[in-house]
Amino acid sequence: MSTDDTNQVDALKTETEPFVASKLGSKDHWDNVYGREINNFKDNGDIGEVWFGEAAATKMVSWVCANIEDEDARILDVGCGNGHLLLELAEEHYTNLVGTDYSAQAVELARSIALSREASITYMEQNFLDLQEVACVAGDEKFDVVLDKGTYDAICLKPKDSDDVSVDQSAINIYPMSVVGSLKDTGVFLITSCNWTEDELVSRFEPYLECIGRVKNKSFQFGGVVGQTVATVAFKKRT
Ligand SMILES: C[S@@+](CC[C@H](N)C(=O)[O-])C[C@H]1O[C@@H](n2cnc3c(N)ncnc32)[C@H](O)[C@@H]1O
Repeated sequence: MSTDDTNQVDALKTETEPFVASKLGSKDHWDNVYGREINNFKDNGDIGEVWFGEAAATKMVSWVCANIEDEDARILDVGCGNGHLLLELAEEHYTNLVGTDYSAQAVELARSIALSREASITYMEQNFLDLQEVACVAGDEKFDVVLDKGTYDAICLKPKDSDDVSVDQSAINIYPMSVVGSLKDTGVFLITSCNWTEDELVSRFEPYLECIGRVKNKSFQFGGVVGQTVATVAFKKRT
């Protein structure tokens, strides 16, 4: 991980120690971030942050390539930000790619980047905590794959109300329902998080989804205990 990547992980982590709500869970924050990044992209072609670093994105893309044979599989990246994960999947010849984000600025940035790279990716605004919007984007067909890199982490930091330090537990409860509502019966969900360990992700999602794999990320050893800076876990829908 580069120093920049470590800083990003720390940005999400330190805000959660102790586990309190933070600006990283607020839409205003992301609108401002992507508003700035749109200007940077226009000025110098910089696509902005690659959250958790290239290695974490590459691990997710490799998992998809190894497990999803059908290049026309319908793939959703929830909270897509600048859309770089989908750009990498487009390079791997996946054709049916949808990115959603609740920040209109993120969607504008992702569209501009995709256009500049002649990548065919559909981007739309969607609040993943609004079950009606989730159903609307999923449609009758629903998705073969739902991807999340850092979005659940942000949602787990959502304040109960604008000046509250308590996290919004209802948002944390709705999220797995939105994943289930987006997936086909045969669908899979791949999540990368820096705030939750693999075991924590499994115990949080197991009531709704069954764990089918854990992706090894860069690990560290401290006092004889091996840990990972980010955790990536795959699930399938329970039948
Ligand atoms: C840490 S960033 C990760 C962005 C992107 N997945 C990446 O890896 O670069 C968190 C993203 O989640 C989005 N987000 C947070 N809450 C959301 C919600 N309720 N619905 C949709 N997107 C949300 C933010 O706008 C932001 O783009």
